[in-house]
Amino acid sequence: MSQVYAAFKSIGAYAPKNVLTNQDLEKMVDTSNEWIIKRTGIKERRIADKDEVTSDMGAKASELAIKRAQIKKEEIDLILCATVTPDYFNMPSTACIIANKLGIANVQAFDISAACSGFVYALSIAKAFVESGMKKNVLVIGAEKFSSIVDYTDRTTCILFGDGAGAAIISATSDKEEAIIDINASANGAYWDYLITPSPGSVNPASKEAIEQGLQYVKMRGNETFKLAVKTLTQDVKDILEKNSIKANEIDHFIPHQANYRIIKAVGDALGMSEEQVVLTIHKYGNTSAASIPMAINELYESGGLKYKELMLLDTFGGGLTWASALIPFAGKANG
Ligand code: UT7
Repeated sequence: MSQVYAAFKSIGAYAPKNVLTNQDLEKMVDTSNEWIIKRTGIKERRIADKDEVTSDMGAKASELAIKRAQIKKEEIDLILCATVTPDYFNMPSTACIIANKLGIANVQAFDISAACSGFVYALSIAKAFVESGMKKNVLVIGAEKFSSIVDYTDRTTCILFGDGAGAAIISATSDKEEAIIDINASANGAYWDYLITPSPGSVNPASKEAIEQGLQYVKMRGNETFKLAVKTLTQDVKDILEKNSIKANEIDHFIPHQANYRIIKAVGDALGMSEEQVVLTIHKYGNTSAASIPMAINELYESGGLKYKELMLLDTFGGGLTWASALIPFAGKANG
């Protein structure tokens, strides 16, 4: 029997229409457009409507990814949704709700909780399922309604995050040149409280007191997270490149998690990446957590800049703390 590999066949994304600009935020908290651009690179982010939830955005991104993979919905045998802003805490999973919205029944479906690293974590699971022969077509989603856990009176977090979704189809192939080369996902729970939504959960179940203290909102030790992010992201990429004997200049597209332009610039410089190699969406979407990387891949794809077999390097970092990197040739047709 010939060896089975996992191929990244297609990408899709969805960004809500409402734009929240830095000027809008100036009216809400003590901040300025200049500060936000200088410290983060963000100019605006998208915010979902009140009745537009994580699964709606995930389903829209999925529809595109399925269409572009040229497969039928019935051929999907696993759905993974990476999110820390699920429709419901903690059941049903958002993956199950998306499956229902897509009209796919009788499919294995579950959520992944790895914050901003969630999409790449989910890719590693998809790869393992496909390579083992257990599944043939996996729908991998990163979807977040981060605005549902942001405190819009906290200037240290509300300027950063936005909403959106991205999705990809990972399919079985016998062509080794199309295969996902490697994914390295890891975590260090010693930093569990660097990025946290304290409630609801078994430590702080939903209560009037918890809400009065604002425990339902994301809290971040920003500066410490920043420093760790630069160090970890750089080392992570060095490791995966060395392990696979690939040089930085052989990467067609470096697609880092879009958390802060200064982090991306520091990591890109340390790795010797040219400006042309680095994919940036931070200015228009901010940090969309698990949706950040697939939304960035989709921007590249839709601009016509992603071609068959071009090599992508993904690199991400988030709450947990978690991180992951991946070396992936694009196995779909270019757009246009
Ligand atoms: O996606 C998961 C991973 N997340 C990240 O990687 C995020 C990492 N962290 C960051 O991106 C940055 O730490 C921030 C953008 C959140 C903050 O930038 P910073 O350069 O680390 O600033 P800081 O926290 O050290 O704060 C510097 C100053 C403080 O004032 P004082 O104490 O020096 O008087 C803050 O109060 O900036 C102040 N500040 C602000 N000023 C205007 C913090 N937020 C704001 C704001 N507008 N929005």
